[in-house]
Amino acid sequence: MSTGRLADKVALVTGAARGTGELVARRFVAEGARVVLGDVLEAEAGAVAKDLGDAACALRLDVTSEEDWQAAIETTNERFGGLDVLVNNAAILHLEALVDTPPERFQALLQVNLYGPFLGIRAAAGAMTERGGGSIVNVCSVDGVQGKNGVAAYASSKWGLRGLTRVAAVELGRAGIRVNTVCPEAGSTHMIGPYVPEGVDPGIVHGFGQPFLPYQRERTNDERLGDIVSMILFLASDESRSSTGSDFLVDSGNTQLKRVKGAPGA
Ligand SMILES: NC(=O)c1ccc[n+]([C@@H]2O[C@H](COP(=O)([O-])OP(=O)(O)OC[C@H]3O[C@@H](n4cnc5c(N)ncnc54)[C@H](O)[C@@H]3O)[C@@H](O)[C@H]2O)c1
Repeated sequence: MSTGRLADKVALVTGAARGTGELVARRFVAEGARVVLGDVLEAEAGAVAKDLGDAACALRLDVTSEEDWQAAIETTNERFGGLDVLVNNAAILHLEALVDTPPERFQALLQVNLYGPFLGIRAAAGAMTERGGGSIVNVCSVDGVQGKNGVAAYASSKWGLRGLTRVAAVELGRAGIRVNTVCPEAGSTHMIGPYVPEGVDPGIVHGFGQPFLPYQRERTNDERLGDIVSMILFLASDESRSSTGSDFLVDSGNTQLKRVKGAPGA
């Protein structure tokens, strides 16, 4: 049921062809926004937009291309008359040991996950300034707030994104533009699927189900995704107008809390 939390807002969501980005686009439209879905998977993004009707449109947007970003902002202005919200959601993942990571793969990942949002913020700032402000939500990860094996490139990109977020929040704040991150513990199974053995719950990759996690409420991956989308919605909306330059963890406490076996209170 829509409560119109994004009524009159225009949003651009990257990586919206599937997974988290698709769910964000669907939720934003349900909450009254008009949404442009950008992705390299143009046909898939187009199918989602078609399903959403007049409140949505799709375009090919490779977030590593400055020209694509300029075209995306122009299309958003032409189609919906301005831009209020940018969700930098598109990203890629490689899981491999640091010493096995080829330099070109490290650089290619940073191009999408860090350089892409940089170009996006740069491209969106002017259009949002013309509107008198806006909200930029950078989709980060628990791997942007902790150290873990196997994610040298990915973690570097997400830690970097948190730094970029702070600089952008300072520099764009005077134009009324807020910039925050969401750091999710989960996402689409498309992303981690290739690294999960057949028949194994993808949650295993994130460590869910271990007996000494601090918060022990069972949730399905879809429920976790719904919670992540809710956080992105909150940050996109004016309800979060007093928050900028911050990280919003959707991690069940797992990056900051530790339940110690045998110690009092365990
Ligand atoms: N999957 C997880 O377990 C997980 C956990 C924490 C955070 N995240 C983050 O959530 C966000 C969404 O990921 P997801 O889980 O939905 O994965 P996903 O792979 O389903 O979605 C990513 C989307 O980004 C698009 N994309 C990739 N490269 C692009 C490019 N150069 N330009 C434009 N679009 C591009 C893909 O086509 C895809 O549609 C990402 O920022 C990811 O890092 C995911």
